[in-house]
Amino acid sequence: MSKFLLLNGPNLNLLGSREPEVYGATQLDDIEANCIELAEELGHTLDCYQSNAEHELIDRVQKAAKDGVDFIIFNPGAYRHTSIAIRDAFLAVDIPFIEIHLSNTFAREEFRHNSYFSDIAVSCLFGFGAFGYDLALIAASEYVVDAEEE
Ligand code: DQA
Repeated sequence: MSKFLLLNGPNLNLLGSREPEVYGATQLDDIEANCIELAEELGHTLDCYQSNAEHELIDRVQKAAKDGVDFIIFNPGAYRHTSIAIRDAFLAVDIPFIEIHLSNTFAREEFRHNSYFSDIAVSCLFGFGAFGYDLALIAASEYVVDAEEE
């Protein structure tokens, strides 16, 4: 059994009402509830956290290390494109993570193409909407099981 953390950044608390044509109609509460259930089915535990504040996301990544979290699924929102400070937090704790985005950021404005996370992530998922979180969780589960066997 592994400990997972689902971390969502700024404006993702508005999922469901925020630009539904880009981000879909599913609310964050429903994504989180679904992920907790799926994690349990896969034999793991999952904590969820969302913040609009950079320092709170950094604090939560640092706390994950103290709590012994094995894997993080992270949608940084717009911090993907700006936050060296959150990148440094991930480098400091050295917890493997998947970077996930509901939309395909590469098919959008050019400023959304750059990421401060993709090169240090285990992998990245784009453009599958809310279903992407299921895919990320299944991939994370495979990753920790493989790591345990090594
Ligand atoms: C997003 C993509 C970001 O560019 C944007 O700032 C978001 C949402 C996504 O999930 O598609 O807030 O992370």
